[in-house]
Amino acid sequence: MIYLGIESSCDETSVAVVSENKILANLVSSQDFHKDYGGVVPELSSRAHLEIISPLVKQAIKKASIDLNDIDVICATAGPGLIGALLVGLTFAKGLSLSLNKPFIPVNHIEGHIFSGFLMKQKPEFPMLCLVVSGGHTLLLNVKSESEIYKLGTTIDDAAGEAFDKVAKMLGLEYPGGPSIQKYAAKGDEDKIKFPISQLKNEFGFSFSGLKTAVLRYVQKEHLESKNIQKEDLQDITASFQKAVIEALKQKTDKALSIQDYNSLSLVGGVAANQKLRDAFQELSEKHNVKLIIPDLEFCGDNAAMIAHRGMQLHKSGKKFSLTHNAFASIPEGTFR
Ligand code: KG4
Ligand code: ZN
Repeated sequence: MIYLGIESSCDETSVAVVSENKILANLVSSQDFHKDYGGVVPELSSRAHLEIISPLVKQAIKKASIDLNDIDVICATAGPGLIGALLVGLTFAKGLSLSLNKPFIPVNHIEGHIFSGFLMKQKPEFPMLCLVVSGGHTLLLNVKSESEIYKLGTTIDDAAGEAFDKVAKMLGLEYPGGPSIQKYAAKGDEDKIKFPISQLKNEFGFSFSGLKTAVLRYVQKEHLESKNIQKEDLQDITASFQKAVIEALKQKTDKALSIQDYNSLSLVGGVAANQKLRDAFQELSEKHNVKLIIPDLEFCGDNAAMIAHRGMQLHKSGKKFSLTHNAFASIPEGTFR
C-alpha cells in the first residue's frame, strides 16, 4: 500500500510518499520570506502553498520512483493550523482523491506529531508518555494506544515554541526563534540569569508568558536596546531563557514518569529539535529506565511523512472519511480524553 501525505498547516509545504514502514519521499519546502515580517503572514502563506503544492507532489512522486496511479490512499492535514493554508493542501488532496478514485484521509496535525516517533527504526511502545512541543502547542499526553490519547497537561498561555519565537523577536533575532536562540545560547552562560519557572495548580500544566515577561524586564532593567545588545549579553540571556524553558518541560515530564509506568517516552514537535532538550530527555529516560524515542530532526518540524503515517494508522483501523471533511483552526473536542 502506498500513502501520499500532504502538509500545509503553517509555513511549510510538505509532500511525502510512505509505504508501510518505508519513507519513499519526504519533501519540505519552507517559506523563508516570513523572516522579513518577524512571523508568519497567513495570506502570504496560503499563496505560497498554492504555488508550490502541485510541483512538489510531482517531485515527491518522482523521488519515490512511483506513478501517480500507484498511490492507494491520500492523506492531508485538516488542522489545527491557518485555515487558508490548510485549505490548499486539503483541497488538493480531495481533488486527487476524486480524480484517482482513491480514499481520502484528513489528518489531525497534532496526532501526526504524536505518532511521528513511529517513523524511526526503533518504535515507541504503548503506553507512551509523549511531550508535544511545537509553535502552537505544548501538550503532555498519556498515549495508551493509537486511538486512546489522554491529556495530562497543556499550557495556559504561550506554547513552548511560541515563547522561543517571541523572545527571539524581543531580542532582535531572526524568525523562527528556536534555532536562533539555540545558536546564541550555545556560547552563553545558562546560569547567568535566574529566570522563573512557573508553578501551577495543575501539576502537569505549563505557562511561559511570565518567563517571556521576565526576559523583557531584564532587558529593560539592564537598559539593553534590542537592536544593539552586546553579543555576550545575547548569549547569556538566550542560554538562561532556554534553560528555564527546558527545566519547566523536564520537571513536568519527570513528575509524570514518577507517578506512572510507561513503556516509552517520546519527545516530538518543532521544539524537539533543540539539542539541550533532547539531552534533558535522554537523562530522564535513563533516570526512569524507559525507552526513549525522539524523531530525527527531519521529522521534528512540520513534515508530511508524519501525516502519511497517521493517515496509514487511521486507514488500517477501517475509518472512512467523506470529501466534505473541512479544515479546522484549533484542536477539535474529543481529540484527547
Ligand atoms: O512543529 P513545528 O515545526 O510547527 C508547528 O506545528 O508549530 O514547530 C515550530 C516551532 C517554532 O516555534 C520554532 O521556533 C521551534 O519549533 N523550533 C525550536 C528549534 N527548532 C524549531 N525551538 C527550540 N530549539 C530549536 N532548535
Ligand atoms: Zn507542527
